[in-house]
This record gives sequence, structure tokens and C-alpha cells, in this order.
Amino acid sequence: MNVGVLGIGITKFGERWDQGLRELLLDSQIKSIKDANIEAKDIDELYTGNMGAGPLSGQLHIGAMATENLNIDKPSVRVEGACASGSLALRAGIAAIESGQAEIVQVNGVEKMTDVSTEQVTTMLMGAGDEELEGFNGLTFPGLYALLAKAYMSKYPKLTRDLLAEVAVKNHFHGVRNDYCQFRKEITIDTVKNATMVADPLTLFDCSPITDGAASIILTSEAKARELGAKVSIVGSGLATDTLSLARRSTLTAIPAGRKAAESAYAQAKIKVSDISFAEVHDCFTIAEIMAVEALGLAKEGEGYKLYQNKDTYFDGKIPINTSGGLKACGHPVGATGVKQAIEATMQLRGEAKGRQVENAEVGVTHNVGGSGATACIHVFKKVK
Ligand code: COA
Repeated sequence: MNVGVLGIGITKFGERWDQGLRELLLDSQIKSIKDANIEAKDIDELYTGNMGAGPLSGQLHIGAMATENLNIDKPSVRVEGACASGSLALRAGIAAIESGQAEIVQVNGVEKMTDVSTEQVTTMLMGAGDEELEGFNGLTFPGLYALLAKAYMSKYPKLTRDLLAEVAVKNHFHGVRNDYCQFRKEITIDTVKNATMVADPLTLFDCSPITDGAASIILTSEAKARELGAKVSIVGSGLATDTLSLARRSTLTAIPAGRKAAESAYAQAKIKVSDISFAEVHDCFTIAEIMAVEALGLAKEGEGYKLYQNKDTYFDGKIPINTSGGLKACGHPVGATGVKQAIEATMQLRGEAKGRQVENAEVGVTHNVGGSGATACIHVFKKVK
């Protein structure tokens, strides 16, 4: 598999009360078209990841919004897979190109979350879990990941409270170096430990925030990418699913779908774990990043903590993780996150991640999870030589 990345565009993430859903989407769409040096009419198909616009903004039919924004009438589809919606849209765009159905595709992700109360957002997000077993009984996403954190830390006590907090400290450190990030301030382990408890053991600073934002990427065929000089290609795409509910899950100390999706993406890309220069992973909560590095094979199960003992996951460390600031500092506009991860991978491989650039980056991996691990989607990005 080989699909070229022609252009990228992203809005500032955060509380964007200055722009609505439509304007955010338009902003990233236009930026990606400019970056690709094409015209809107050159786009053959569009795929847009979005989870919550129905319940939060009363707006469905986001596919049509994306084409209306560009004043074109091409095939355009909204893709939903909870917090993995963005990378599922990316995978759909890749499939359209690989099948020969389209030569140039725009993949978008958009979410507008801050116009309503935290309670409304929490209820909407809980749609990513099992309504009957979990939502109905009062569980929330911080609650679900707190259960995973408790189970993991009791089985693997070497993941101490301080090392778990180090995930957030490192992601905020990267976030300061990223212009489109929501929280651009450094924090300490004490900031995390002393913050308001959200769901024991997760405090406010163990959680990704509620965020508005949009991200867009222009993909093209291998031949067209060569002709137009694209500098990055996507060479592997893996998708796996698991049970909606944690109650039916085979384990509470790992996210097996992440492991399965990674294995299939690596096989397609013909890479080994040792080839990976950096990864953007789904740190919706600090514990999720620990489980993600293990799912990607960067650490053995139960040994993810080791990467956080010696600052290995910083942009200049052995295996940089979440140089964008991750979901924690960059923000998590759920439908946009998967596309944002692809943008960070592209920026790293093009050498454009100023202030947080990974030296000699050749291969980047993105890891995007929906729900508490029911969907996992992994992509492998490579620098074109
Ligand atoms: N990290 C750091 N700071 C945060 C934050 C976060 N996750 N969330 C909010 N803040 C800050 C706000 O900027 C604000 O600061 P200010 O007073 O200086 O302006 C303050 O904390 C209070 O913000 P508020 O919006 O009132 O927080 P809240 O209590 O409504 O929401 C959470 C906090 C943790 C409940 C909310 O961010 C949340 O639900 N996060 C998880 C989202 C989620 O589940 N996503 C899907 C994952 S699969």
C-alpha cells in the first residue's frame, strides 16, 4: 500500500467561541487545499470524521457540509467511530484511492464541543461505551479509564502514581512547543497529583480536555504523489475492534484491539517495531498512553512505565511519543483527533515540527482509539526518499 500525503491543514484547538462547526471545518479544509497546491475542484471524494455534532449542535449530514463549504458536488461522507472517527475517515479515504475510485481525496475531522455544558458532552461521549451496561448505570469515560487504571496499577505496581503523571507532564512539555495546541503551559508531577480528582486515580490533569477543532489532509495515489512531489506517504493501515463494554472484555490491563491493529498495519507497511522513529498515540487519559505504547510493541505488557523513567518519550528521547502534545495538552476534539495525529506525523516527516522536531525521523505511527478500546485504528507514515 502506498498513498501520498499532498497537503495538511489544521485549526487552533481549544475553546473556539469565535467559530462554529462549519467555520472550523472550512478553515482546515482551505488550509489543506492551499498546502497541497491544488484547487477544490480537483478533489474527487471527501470523508469527514465527526462524532457529536448531532447531539451537541443539532447538525448531522456533515458530508454535505464539507462539499457545500468548498462549493463542489463530489461524493462526500461523514464517518463515525467515536474518538477514532478521524482515523476511520482517513482509512476510508485511503481505500477510495487504493481501489482506484478516486485520485485525490480530502479527509477531514471536526468537533465543536465547548458550546454546551460538560454534562451534555459527557453524556454524548458515553455513547462510545455500552449504553445498557455502562451509561445507564452512571459510568462516564473518566470512570471507565479509572477502572482500567486501577486494574493495571494493581497488576503492575511498578507503574507508580508519579510515573503515570509523567505522561501528562511530558505531553504538556510538547504542547508548549506546538502552535495549534489547547494548553500551552508546562506542568509538574505535583500539578497532576494535586489537581481536582475526577475519577480515582485520575485527576483533572490525567484527562484530555473538551475541545473545539478541525483538521484536514489531502491524499493522492502513489503515481500522482510522485508527479506532484509529495514528501510523505501512508504505507500501512490497520483496524481492529473489540467488545463495546469493559464487562465483556477479555482483559482490563491492555487494549487488545490496539495490538491487533498495530500488527496488521506493520505487516502491510513491512516494518518492524525497531523501524519506528516516533508515535502519536491516543492518550485520552494518562493510563491510555501507557497501554498504547505497549499495544504498539514499544514496551512489553506491564513494562510501559520504563519509557517514562528516563524521559525516553520526549521529542529528543529514544522513542518520542505525542510530540504534538497528545490529546492531553493539544486537546481532543474527538472527530478531529485521528486526522490531527496524521498531520503531526506528516509535519515530523517533512521536518516542519519546529521546536519539537524528531531528528532523522523516517517512520511515524499513529494510534487512535474509539471508546474504551472497542475500536483501534493504526496508520504507518513514511518519509519519501
Ligand atoms: N486538563 C487541564 N486543564 C483542564 C482540563 C484538562 N483536561 N479540563 C479543563 N481544564 C481547565 C480549564 O481550562 C479551566 O481552567 P481555568 O479555570 O483556568 O479557565 C478549569 O480547568 C475548569 O475547566 P472546566 O471546563 O470547568 O472543567 P470541567 O470540570 O467542566 O471538565 C473534565 C473537566 C476533566 C471533566 C473534562 O475535561 C472531561 O470530561 N474530560 C474528558 C473528556 C473525555 O472523556 N473525552 C473522551 C475520551 S475517550
